[in-house]
Amino acid sequence: PPLDEILNLHDFESVAKTVLTPKAWAYYSSASDDEITIRENRAAFQRVWFRPRILRDVTSVDWSTNILGCKSSLPVYISATALGKLGHPDGELNLTRAAAKHGVIQMIPTLASCSFDEIVDAAQPNQPLFLQLYVNKDREITKKYVQHAEKRGVKALFITVDAPQLGRREKDMRMKFVDDGAGAKVQEGQKDVKKDQGVARAISSFIDPSLSWKDIPWFRSITNMHIILKGVSTPEDAILAYEAGCQGIVLSNHGGRQLDTARSGLENLIDIVAALKTKGPWPNPNFSVFVDGGVRRASDVLKAIALGASAVGIGRGFLYAFSSYGQEGVERAFEILRDEFEMNMRLLGARNIREVVPDMVDASALSAH
Ligand code: FNR
Repeated sequence: PPLDEILNLHDFESVAKTVLTPKAWAYYSSASDDEITIRENRAAFQRVWFRPRILRDVTSVDWSTNILGCKSSLPVYISATALGKLGHPDGELNLTRAAAKHGVIQMIPTLASCSFDEIVDAAQPNQPLFLQLYVNKDREITKKYVQHAEKRGVKALFITVDAPQLGRREKDMRMKFVDDGAGAKVQEGQKDVKKDQGVARAISSFIDPSLSWKDIPWFRSITNMHIILKGVSTPEDAILAYEAGCQGIVLSNHGGRQLDTARSGLENLIDIVAALKTKGPWPNPNFSVFVDGGVRRASDVLKAIALGASAVGIGRGFLYAFSSYGQEGVERAFEILRDEFEMNMRLLGARNIREVVPDMVDASALSAH
């Protein structure tokens, strides 16, 4: 369908399913084991209800915000998703260029199809970029990569901590890996590619399962970028991240692709925020809490913000947008979200992001806490 008939982020998924190769669809859409967690990521948002306030003069509403010191036109960033060229020949550059035009922040994946430098070269001067990091068994490779990113102006390092081993995504595993040029180029020292177990497993054997809390000071010693742990699920680990001197965490289950039946980030948010409040001021200017997983509507984002998130990550929504329509698809996705923010914030009675407060949601049905 023509792009102007796309009315919401779900529509991109329907189109992507028809235009992607079976291999790409399997890699992008799959989640681990019985795919319970990916279902819950969506379902959790539907258990939170709004408590809209009225008569607040909502003539002008502003949903722009600041994410880790960077301006963002939306309280949303593009979360890292690997292998963009499986979906579109321009791969991740679709996101970079659309993000530049719309003032949105992209998190570059370690396993991007385009090289890191190609992506940074495609960005505008001063366009804020984040980097997602998979930590290599060879720390020298990781150190070079991180320091190169900092030199090229990346603002924050999101270390993925929920993937010491990649989950079993069985839809993907049924597809054989063929090196057709979409693969990630950045990881040298990756010799033992297993080609009979799907895309994900073929590209991930370099990831170091020995990564531990002891490594955090080492990261701090090699970079001045903000350090965020991506894939935190419990108050215990949120506190450890805070005490380790990280600048934030992402409550994420990797889009349901790692430990199946892990709870959704949204469900974990209330307890984690409560735990962090015992440790310092709230909102804490030095420690941000992000959420991702299942976000497809501005209303989802507003629920997470009301419950204490600084901003929210979207993976598949944008991935399906560029797979279907390239850069223009991503731009359309941003415009759709913009329209949804305007309407939802007016109807909610919040004129800016600071006015999206806990009292604006009823989360009593979300989960036991
Ligand atoms: C991901 N995600 C991911 N995360 C990460 O830290 N490193 C990675 O390489 C990838 N790759 C990746 C590929 C694909 C195809 C998907 C769908 C996801 C997880 C991603 O950053 C984010 O946590 C989820 O995508 C959020 O859930 P939604 O928005 O896809 O529902």
